[in-house]
Amino acid sequence: MMEGSSSLSPTPHRLAGKVAVITGGASGIGAATARLFVKHGAKVVIADVQDALGLSLCDSIRSFASDSVSFVHCDVTSDSDVGAAVDAAVAKHGRLDIMFSNAGTPGSPSFSILDLNRADLENVFNVNVFGAFNCAKHAARVMVPARKGTIIFTSSVVSVTAGLCQHPYTASKHAVVGLAKNLCVELGEFGIRVNCLSPYAVYTPMYAKNIGLSDRETGERLILESGNLKGVVLETEDVAAAAVWLASEESKYVSGLNLVLDGGYGTTNPGFVEAVKKIASL
Ligand SMILES: NC(=O)c1ccc[n+]([C@@H]2O[C@H](COP(=O)([O-])OP(=O)(O)OC[C@H]3O[C@@H](n4cnc5c(N)ncnc54)[C@H](O)[C@@H]3O)[C@@H](O)[C@H]2O)c1
Repeated sequence: MMEGSSSLSPTPHRLAGKVAVITGGASGIGAATARLFVKHGAKVVIADVQDALGLSLCDSIRSFASDSVSFVHCDVTSDSDVGAAVDAAVAKHGRLDIMFSNAGTPGSPSFSILDLNRADLENVFNVNVFGAFNCAKHAARVMVPARKGTIIFTSSVVSVTAGLCQHPYTASKHAVVGLAKNLCVELGEFGIRVNCLSPYAVYTPMYAKNIGLSDRETGERLILESGNLKGVVLETEDVAAAAVWLASEESKYVSGLNLVLDGGYGTTNPGFVEAVKKIASL
């Protein structure tokens, strides 16, 4: 190879032969992961409530991998919908290796406990926590007899850092980490790994809606300015890359991990330094 020419090889098939279900796979982090899983050789079933978006994503993925992706309508709050999504993957591809339980909702925008609305709390827990339970249960149903598999949940940086998001969302994402760790113990006996991915803010439709911004540039500037690691912005593709690693044999001994993708944000508290700067500049 000539000096200076690219040494990058085509995408290695790190998930060759594997079959995945991705909930919340029609948009944002789930959609980026569906694309990357397929590029790495996996067969993917996208499970989401947004049928039109899910079907159009399938069409775009089929342009480079014709029979590797399909869509099922699936509301993760419904035990039978999640069961049917898992059954669809097994019927089509003969197995399930990866459950990426990623569907989520932020709930109402209010940060105050005084505004707490029972219906909102139930909605957030129904999707983020009960949905995760449904995914775990149906994935385990087929993975336990196979004595292998990997379950990945999308939690959030709010599982390690308080005050960034609303109470129901924060509590729900802590619950997801608790579920993952407990499952890691139960399912380790069967060779099944269970982990969480916990991203910092990523510009997606959920993020844009939650902070009331629809332009990507401002949304990403906010992420850049507020982040600890400067000069880079976390993107859906970065979370997808971490999901590929957790789903692949490269992480074969990793279980019970809450993999925080936050550029170090969770280790900082700039409050004192900010106050010094403010007071010193008065
Ligand atoms: N974007 C961020 O800043 C961020 C940060 C940390 C964690 N997360 C988490 O990442 C995950 C993905 O969110 P995103 O940012 O990609 O948002 P997104 O809105 O782009 O995607 C979420 C997807 O989940 C689907 N969904 C919602 N409720 C569902 C249900 N009941 N059944 C099935 N599907 C459902 C939506 O239709 C959507 O396609 C969520 O769990 C979210 O909490 C997001």
